[in-house]
Amino acid sequence: MRIGVLTGGGDCPGLNAVIRAVTKSLLRQCGAEVIGIEDGFAGLMENRTRALDWRSVSGILFSGGTILGTSNRANPLASAEATAATLANARTLRLDAVVAVGGDGTMAIAHGLAQQGLPMVGVPKTIDNDIEGCEQSFGFDTAVATVTEALERVQTTGQSHGRIMIVETMGRYAGWIALEAGVAGAADVILLPEIDYDPEAVLAVCREREQRQRFTVICIGEGAKPRGGALTVERRVADSADPIRLGGVGHVLREWLQPRLQSEVRATVLGHVQRGGAPTPFDRVLATQFGNHAAQLVARGTFNRMVTLAEGRLGSVPIGQVAGQNRRVPLNHPLLVAARQIGVSFGDG
Ligand code: F6P
Repeated sequence: MRIGVLTGGGDCPGLNAVIRAVTKSLLRQCGAEVIGIEDGFAGLMENRTRALDWRSVSGILFSGGTILGTSNRANPLASAEATAATLANARTLRLDAVVAVGGDGTMAIAHGLAQQGLPMVGVPKTIDNDIEGCEQSFGFDTAVATVTEALERVQTTGQSHGRIMIVETMGRYAGWIALEAGVAGAADVILLPEIDYDPEAVLAVCREREQRQRFTVICIGEGAKPRGGALTVERRVADSADPIRLGGVGHVLREWLQPRLQSEVRATVLGHVQRGGAPTPFDRVLATQFGNHAAQLVARGTFNRMVTLAEGRLGSVPIGQVAGQNRRVPLNHPLLVAARQIGVSFGDG
């Protein structure tokens, strides 16, 4: 058996832990040959691969990024020629199946290739935690830890200067990172993509705290927007499956608040520090379980499914069921409700 492994889309902490677990499990359980495909689907389109063995996956559990590289632009489904070339390469490489580790965009491509006859197994990855059918993806816990630490840090400096401190998180159209880190990092205001905020409501919290506590910490997800307003787009990437990159909404909010407040308002956009660095122990464990589960699916000949975590149990769903979907924070989520009950403002009244 020859099995390809690739990591697609934006990187996140824990990818190497998956590569390691898939490889070790396939070597040990099936005696398979494991082929690492470089730079996501780009490597499959351009025939760039390398063998993965015990030695090449040794010592990578703790490291951030992906030893295989990744791409969030390469799309073998972009044209009939690209698809044909990709499938031809897979035949030349004598791949019996490919394990694709990625987010919704990667799953959409994996689904498309599976429909064209290339057996696929998906492993959900994203710091955004927004993959349908999977209650937690690895990388999320690490990102939450990073944002939580940042919130703690801005709190002490904000307290010293009596400032309004805004911290912008990643997460695209889902507010999971902002919600969890916002609660863990004691934010006074948490603004999510799922709840359009009223700037006047945010202003009222800051004014009240100006009198009472001098400082305010606001945690805002990059996909948040004011009522009746638009998303803040940082740039457009024409040749990507996800053509919009969000970013800068923290500065937009700062510009609106500053003239209306006595205190200084400062904004910090955390950006890619949330994606880098070593995975937390939780993410190492989850990624190892996901990788091993993917290898078990391959060993059983169960293809075109994505590994999932549902109610704390590993399982799998058809890739087509999750491809291109987005799992957002429900407005009745227990953490959101609890945060409201302890007085956190979500900027909606
Ligand atoms: O999906 C992961 C993610 O980090 C998002 O949170 C963010 O919006 C996007 O990727 C950034 O993409 P890029 O690395 O291409 O700027």
